[in-house]
Amino acid sequence: MSTSTAQEPIDGATTRVSGGEIVCEDLVRIYAADGIEVQALQGLNLHVEAGDLVAIVGASGSGKSTLLTILSGLDTPTAGRASVAGVDLLTLGGKRRVAYQRHTVGFVWQQTSRNLLPYLNALENVALPMALAGQSAKAIDERADALLEMLGVSHCRDRRPGAMSGGEQQRTAIAVAVANSPQVLLADEPTGELDEATSAEVLEMMRTVNAETGVTVLIVTHDPTVSEHVRRTVQIRDGRTSTEVLRRRETDEHGAELHVAEEFAVLDKVGRMQLPQDFVSALELKDRVRLTLEEDHAGVWRDGRHGKPGPGGDEPTDQQEEER
Ligand SMILES: Nc1ncnc2c1ncn2[C@@H]1O[C@H](COP(=O)(O)OP(=O)(O)OP(=O)(O)O)[C@@H](O)[C@H]1O
Ligand SMILES: [Mg+2]
Repeated sequence: MSTSTAQEPIDGATTRVSGGEIVCEDLVRIYAADGIEVQALQGLNLHVEAGDLVAIVGASGSGKSTLLTILSGLDTPTAGRASVAGVDLLTLGGKRRVAYQRHTVGFVWQQTSRNLLPYLNALENVALPMALAGQSAKAIDERADALLEMLGVSHCRDRRPGAMSGGEQQRTAIAVAVANSPQVLLADEPTGELDEATSAEVLEMMRTVNAETGVTVLIVTHDPTVSEHVRRTVQIRDGRTSTEVLRRRETDEHGAELHVAEEFAVLDKVGRMQLPQDFVSALELKDRVRLTLEEDHAGVWRDGRHGKPGPGGDEPTDQQEEER
């Protein structure tokens, strides 16, 4: 079944930005609370291609929700560039913001109660965004039923959220979020209130929706098992994207399917990257490091001011030596 309908970004006057379905460049968000500035995003870079399914992971307070709130059009960044489906989020105002939230993006939040109206049944909840968008009653009924079926919650059609399990509510919430065929589906901890088995089901449903409708999906999560459900996992550290894990399937010489995962550090436009914390601790790196350009790699060396001289600094440690 395919439920996607090609949709133009909301209106002709919208500034179009090219370079990916979700593009964040040097994104900064500073909150000022009680005279103290909190830099929630500190120059974050992220590119997501159309149709991709990506997870964002990171410690509490690393800026994940801040990023999603900006991408959903509920908050505006302090500086940098952010665009979704060609819509520039820095210049989005008034009516265009409402249209953006109604048609271009869909969201699923962690709190099951925030996603569905308690006094409407599942079918009515899914129908509501389509009715607000002015679709015909017949089209709404057909699509709402098809979406509930795709998400495996047809049996909840006539039930209100109070009579559904947490997993059923979140699956219905996904149906609501994609009702108006958004180009991008954003989910902030959609499995945060669910047990492990139900979380896995909901993440699988995210994958189904991505595969069936082609919607680009960005999921923020603490769930360590998320990486089994997505091709790309991006880690945020201190308001910046730091590392990525890409997964691909390969077939070995006996024909067996292997899942290969590779970790990469994110390199920004001007060449900045974050060293993983375990490298920094293991090599006791601090303040500054020496860099050497080798034929096929770069070396990172502890500043040798207090140590024995190596190539311009310390003797190489075992880990550094292995890299060579
Ligand atoms: N409205 C706000 N006012 C002031 N500071 C804020 C506000 N919202 C978030 N912050 C701060 O910004 C930083 C990033 O918060 P954010 O909610 O994006 O983190 P998170 O990665 O989603 O964390 P969690 O995993 O706990 O949900 C934190 O230091 C937080 O305290
Ligand atoms: Mg959060």
